[in-house]
Amino acid sequence: MSLHIAASAGEIAETVLLPGDPLRAEYIAKTFLKDAKCYTKVRNMFGYTGTYKGKKISVQGTGMGIPSISIYVHELIRDYGAKTLIRVGTCGAMRSDIHLREVIIAQGATTDSSIIQNIFGPSIQFAPLADFEVLRTAYEKAVQEHIPVRVGNVISVDRFYDEEINNEKLTQYGIMAVEMETAGLYVAAAKYGVSALGLFTVSDHLLTKEACTAEERQLSFNDMIRIALETAAA
Ligand code: HPA
Repeated sequence: MSLHIAASAGEIAETVLLPGDPLRAEYIAKTFLKDAKCYTKVRNMFGYTGTYKGKKISVQGTGMGIPSISIYVHELIRDYGAKTLIRVGTCGAMRSDIHLREVIIAQGATTDSSIIQNIFGPSIQFAPLADFEVLRTAYEKAVQEHIPVRVGNVISVDRFYDEEINNEKLTQYGIMAVEMETAGLYVAAAKYGVSALGLFTVSDHLLTKEACTAEERQLSFNDMIRIALETAAA
């Protein structure tokens, strides 16, 4: 086992879906995977492995924020050999033309986190990017499934409650939505030379202050999971 994941060698698939909420990991495993088996319950951050269309796939909760997802992603890659990591999360829309329940694919993940400076120093502003092949597959699967998606830049913020951030400027520069993990995922994937992608369902809107009901969130979440699983099995 690794420090935060109680799996034995070989129990985790090379392709891992990453919801923030451990109960979503359980939901995805029990609803969509065949023969799903729980391999870790450390800190109640559940991880399961099963199959989807015959392919071995794992789903691991990551918790909220870059520090938490970074722990799980580092251990999945370094200690268990994960090669393709697909975050399946929620985000807040920042533009008036983006609506609740839409699915967003993060081509890039801008961030106000210190991880970039911690790694590269003050003069390099590293751009955390999705893996192009995984992104292309996800986009094609969404089109095949008739699920509309938007592809572009999001921001991974350190503070959910942030009254100082200039959202207007960020949207002027094309940022579509806010979430809290994907820059950490993309930086870790870059460090280890593996593939990563972030997919999100819009669960709330920063301009209109609307938010999905729990039921709406579940239904739109299922569209995103279908895209992620079809991409993982491709
Ligand atoms: N802010 C930050 N992270 C989020 C949000 C939000 O509005 N919605 C879902 N994740």
